[in-house]
Amino acid sequence: MDPLTVEWLNLALRWTHVITGIAWIGSSFYFMWLDAHLVRADPPHPTVEGHIWLVHSGGFYITEKRKLAAGQVPPDLHWFKWEAFYTLVTGLLLLGVVYYAAAGTFMVDSSKANFLPWQAIAIGVATLVVGWLVYDGLWMSPLARHQGWLTAFCCLLLAGVVWGLGQVFSGRAAYMHTGALMGVIMAVNVWMRILPAQAAMIAATQTGTPVDWSLGEKAKHRSVHNNYMTLPVVFVMLSSHYPSTYGHPHGWAILIGLFAVGAIVRHWFNLRARGRDNPLLIPAAIFGGALLATYAGLGGRDVGSGGPPVAFAEVRKVIDTRCVACHSARPTNPAFDAAPKNIKLDTPAEIRAQALPIKAQAVVSRVMPLGNLTEMTDAERDLLGRWVNQGAKVE
Ligand code: HEC
Repeated sequence: MDPLTVEWLNLALRWTHVITGIAWIGSSFYFMWLDAHLVRADPPHPTVEGHIWLVHSGGFYITEKRKLAAGQVPPDLHWFKWEAFYTLVTGLLLLGVVYYAAAGTFMVDSSKANFLPWQAIAIGVATLVVGWLVYDGLWMSPLARHQGWLTAFCCLLLAGVVWGLGQVFSGRAAYMHTGALMGVIMAVNVWMRILPAQAAMIAATQTGTPVDWSLGEKAKHRSVHNNYMTLPVVFVMLSSHYPSTYGHPHGWAILIGLFAVGAIVRHWFNLRARGRDNPLLIPAAIFGGALLATYAGLGGRDVGSGGPPVAFAEVRKVIDTRCVACHSARPTNPAFDAAPKNIKLDTPAEIRAQALPIKAQAVVSRVMPLGNLTEMTDAERDLLGRWVNQGAKVE
């Protein structure tokens, strides 16, 4: 497909994905907050469980949480479901446009496993499908009665997925598929487990038959899972900006660590909403983040300013053989019709202008060359690092 078309397709999908994602997470945060802040009626009211007064953009609002008597379901009940649906659909399409359409470049890392593009795609899709089936099967099984143990087991399984994908895919594709799996679980939870429970509750209320609360109980588990997954998933959405995470030799460990940090922060919010502030959680999350940053730094390969002076001619040769196939006004790699991210390394001035990004991408985190398709050596990376540290001179 023509690169401009691909770029604008990517733009439209990503924009929509972020908008619907914000709407979904925003409404879910709002309802969590609302439930926690409702004020009970005094004296108690038979059908009003609680209410709250709000002020927002030029108006006062009163919101009530009610029990409905038999036959009393209002005709125009609003559901919050399309946010999750469109976030899922745009997310999957984006996965297709960014990763599957160029699987050979974006998913395969030949230093890990030499898959053909279709094999990489098959593993990616299978991860999403099998991941959902295993998760859902476990929570539908009698094991779900042991909520704590099953939660711990699922966290271990997820860590296993992060590790496993990290062994076979490029760092970015491994991160994105973990995030996509969690996104799939969250959205399908809404559509297959939470909404049907609500529909059954409504139907029972309408006909005046007894409500099966066990459905609501199961749906509640899924809502709690979704709640703890939100912050980790949002990190994955942003992760491709941070090569020191996905490009680290143990990128999987860093992702598990960041997931833990996200879940701790979410837990702090949840406790706080119930009036049980835990003053240790946020410092723990910050401390965890600092440890991860230190670990990310240790994995990176920096090179000192020592060593013999590097001649620009040597640098140029390395860039010409390892980078210019893609990063050129006229790339020779057939996967690219234009320089990726508009980073061109054809002339000395262009190379000099990119000195710091070159170091970040090809020396410290080593995520470039993409999938090491051009087989850059360690000695060449050291050479580029020393050149930048010595002031990135071009004559
Ligand atoms: C096989 C093609 C290919 C090769 C070879 C390659 N790159 Fe890249 N590079 C890409 C693509 C694709 C992107 C855009 C990634 C994205 O969308 O985030 C990129 C992005 C970059 C960026 C910008 C990163 C950012 O997120 O801002 C830098 C800097 C970079 N490459 C440097 C290099 C250097 C230095 C080399 C050689 C050592 C190199 N690349 C070799 C394909 C390649």
